[in-house]
Amino acid sequence: MRSSHTSPPLTGPCIQQDPKHSELTQFGALVVRWCENRKRKQADLANAAGLSPSYLSKLIRGRREVTVAAITALEQVMHTDGALADAAARSNDNVPHRPPQIRRRTAPAQLPPTVSTLHGRDHELASIATWGPAPGLRLFIDGALGTGKTALAVTHAHRLAPTYRAGNLFADLRGHHPDGPADPSDVLAHLLKSLRLPVPDSFTDRVQAWRSATWSTRLLLVLDDARSTEQLTPLLPSGAGCAVIITSRYRLSTLLVGTSTQTLTLAPLTRTHSLNLLATRLGRTRITAEPDISNHIAEVCGDLPKALALAAEHLSTHPNVPLERLLSEHEDRWELTKITDNADGSMHAALDAFYKTLPPDHQRAWHLIGSIDRTTTAEEIAVLTGWAPGHTRSVLEGLVLAHLVTRRDSTYDMNALIRKWGSQMGTGHQRGSF
Ligand SMILES: Nc1ncnc2c1ncn2[C@@H]1O[C@H](COP(=O)(O)OP(=O)(O)OP(=O)(O)O)[C@@H](O)[C@H]1O
Ligand SMILES: [Mg+2]
Repeated sequence: MRSSHTSPPLTGPCIQQDPKHSELTQFGALVVRWCENRKRKQADLANAAGLSPSYLSKLIRGRREVTVAAITALEQVMHTDGALADAAARSNDNVPHRPPQIRRRTAPAQLPPTVSTLHGRDHELASIATWGPAPGLRLFIDGALGTGKTALAVTHAHRLAPTYRAGNLFADLRGHHPDGPADPSDVLAHLLKSLRLPVPDSFTDRVQAWRSATWSTRLLLVLDDARSTEQLTPLLPSGAGCAVIITSRYRLSTLLVGTSTQTLTLAPLTRTHSLNLLATRLGRTRITAEPDISNHIAEVCGDLPKALALAAEHLSTHPNVPLERLLSEHEDRWELTKITDNADGSMHAALDAFYKTLPPDHQRAWHLIGSIDRTTTAEEIAVLTGWAPGHTRSVLEGLVLAHLVTRRDSTYDMNALIRKWGSQMGTGHQRGSF
């Protein structure tokens, strides 16, 4: 990093308005002002950052390109929270043959659009608003399948985005995709490409490149639908100027140990908010005209926004047919959530894909608890399966972490839709074995 140039060190303050220093770039002006405010010589700053004073002098006058390495070194001393990198990007516009990673560019803006009306999440949004923007913000949103984790994360990210000058990135980690979760190496390639940085061949080099790129910048990152801590860890930004919002159907406890991660576990909607969601999508008149049927739809959907949205989409295709009539056309009302002609996929497909990612004993317990159709205990499951008490507890703990069952004292309960699915899913799979 140290340059071989040996011109005399720069001393004393100088500011951009001074005609003597009118050639200073924005980056240069920032460095000069920083020295001036702290009464430090530029040579001392250069030495502290491991640069030669003459090299720093050329950088601040725009006679040399400002490299990522130089910014990283200076930021470690100056702590300008990303402002240095931003100023360098602008300053390098005027430097010929500048390196591509420092060229001024449009900041990436990859956040998907927000849901137009987010029902029943005012309290959650208010609570996470108190946590950021903050240095090194790390927010982890978990909750059962289809509780609206992505919708909440994206809404919050849109609110934070203006504070993150280097832009916002969104990566789908495909935690429950039928083809398996996204490979972190592929995700890193996507992230680096999004910042228009070169993508090294090896995984280790990609991790290093990502950490260098996020060390001294202000970037907002959403990592959606994470599967495991192993998948997430290499993707976390290294610098305190970045914020990351993670969503997962799992409570990834080991990720949280020893970190300042803020966590929020999302529950299904209250019945009132479920009905409001249906009213937004089907029209208030339709809901108030058939209150019992509307309530029944919300119940069948387990008050899960994803199921409610899919059911509403199905019902909205026949605006002039009473809801009761439409429901009576389904042999099993639960089929409401099975529609497949939707870009988001059906609830049926989502549950099926999730089920297939689970170990056999977790699948068996999901089916069993679903079939019992009331709250149960570990002792009851142990008797029905013949499992040892320790193994039974560990399987149930796995289902709790996956938000497939909830525990209260010593009893375990299941969401209505998740229960229904479990009871049907095991048919033929485990029948006869308990
Ligand atoms: N609070 C809400 N109000 C209105 N609509 C919502 C709400 N939350 C989610 N939705 C709708 O439900 C759909 C599913 O939500 P979302 O994808 O956020 O769920 P998720 O918990 O991330 O699901 P998954 O577990 O599959 O990742 C979204 O397309 C959105 O339209
Ligand atoms: Mg999601």
